Amino acid sequence: MKNPSYRYPRTSSLHRTILCLICLLTIVGHAQGFRILKKSHYIVKKSSAYSGITIRDDNGPTVNQAAIPFPHVFEEIYPEDYLDFLVLGDWGYQAKGVGEKKGDQVHVASAMENMTQEYGTQFIINVGDSFYKSHRDDYQGVNSVDDNKWKTVWSDVYHGRLAEIPWYSVAGNHDWYNNVTAEVDYFWTKNHRFFLPALFYVRHSYFGPQRIKVTWIHIDTNIFYYDYGYLDDRNSLKSNFRAFEMDKPGMITDRLKWIEEKLEENQDSKWIFVVGHHPLIGSCASKHLMSRLPLLFKIYGVTAYFSGHSHTLEYQSSKLSSPTTYFTSGSGSRFGSGCDGKDWGVPSGTLGFLHVRINGNSSKLDFQYVNATTYESEILHQGTVDAIPFIYPKEY
Ligand SMILES: *[C@@H]1O[C@H](CO)[C@@H](O)[C@H](O)[C@H]1NC(C)=O
Ligand SMILES: *[C@@H]1O[C@H](CO)[C@@H](O)[C@H](O)[C@H]1NC(C)=O
Ligand SMILES: *[C@@H]1O[C@H](CO)[C@@H](O)[C@H](O)[C@H]1NC(C)=O
Ligand SMILES: *[C@@H]1O[C@H](CO)[C@@H](O)[C@H](O)[C@H]1NC(C)=O
Repeated sequence: MKNPSYRYPRTSSLHRTILCLICLLTIVGHAQGFRILKKSHYIVKKSSAYSGITIRDDNGPTVNQAAIPFPHVFEEIYPEDYLDFLVLGDWGYQAKGVGEKKGDQVHVASAMENMTQEYGTQFIINVGDSFYKSHRDDYQGVNSVDDNKWKTVWSDVYHGRLAEIPWYSVAGNHDWYNNVTAEVDYFWTKNHRFFLPALFYVRHSYFGPQRIKVTWIHIDTNIFYYDYGYLDDRNSLKSNFRAFEMDKPGMITDRLKWIEEKLEENQDSKWIFVVGHHPLIGSCASKHLMSRLPLLFKIYGVTAYFSGHSHTLEYQSSKLSSPTTYFTSGSGSRFGSGCDGKDWGVPSGTLGFLHVRINGNSSKLDFQYVNATTYESEILHQGTVDAIPFIYPKEY
């Protein structure tokens, strides 16, 4: 790791000149919803290497391309002088209660739909566990791009504006238990709104007349959270890790290196966010290699990390020793408990999501946790977070 002392505050012009980022995709969000400017900008052809097709490198092993960080940056431009998004996790559970057709996720969907309408929300950050085994005859994740669960668990449930804006996604462990490649393929071959071009990718959102730059780094935390060596042979995660060559230590080191490179390259952003499935709050950050991430986030001034996995709503606020704010929004359809060490959270038994808004004139983001356990939703808790949490002096 290089000496970080030269990196604060985030510089702009220097990095801009160094950067030559290829923008593959221009998305314009506008008041009416979401529109793809030029379909041809999607590099579906070139990307076939990134679809689930497993290719064989002449010199070596078979690697599933979905596991390779997407080499180009996706770019979005929003004319509105705000960025507004919802963070939703662990939403694909449809256990059917008595008299219910679609389980608890419909309450959350209803509150989300109302909120996106009210605020002109531009996108959803989907922190994963998109498809669960919901009942005895069901299975984890999805089987293929044609799985009926795309319809029954996703498009039949989330209506209105939720069905118009993109869902920027990462994969959770339940997505990995089955065919995670099919979720990546679904993006490339079926529906770009389920945005998962690879398991690791970078986006830039520019908004307002000043074109304020926000960098998003979407990562797959499964390899940092679960220790391959300790996984049970019957656990499909193990064989899937192997298929993606994630059993090789070098792959994990490479991913950490990639994350650091992306953080370093994007120091000219006003906001840097990282999105992953597993939480990094308090005790949860000590799982396997997870603790490597907060170290990077601290050095490179990550404003916030968004996750799910814990089926709860909670966060750990910015502090001198840990300047990044850690948000968990993992109660899109299931109840559970969270991590020891949170600064705020709900007891088990609450469903909901997180709403975030950044106004163009502000260096703080506003957030609200919403209780959507029933059709009578309510704001549970709100607060603000600074764009650059702490300006560090030299050594630390
Ligand atoms: C969403 O709005 C509708 C119409 O006002 C209302 O009936 C419904 O209860 C709201 N949903 C939630 C979860 O608040
Ligand atoms: C996973 O899904 C992809 C895309 O639908 C498909 O090509 C592949 O055969 C599936 N793999 C398995 C093991 O079912
Ligand atoms: C959320 O709403 C449900 C249903 O009204 C309620 O039982 C629960 O206590 C609420 N959660 C919190 C943390 O207030
Ligand atoms: C910033 O913009 C928002 C939305 O337009 C507005 O409500 C707020 O008053 C503005 N704040 C300042 C400090 O100008």
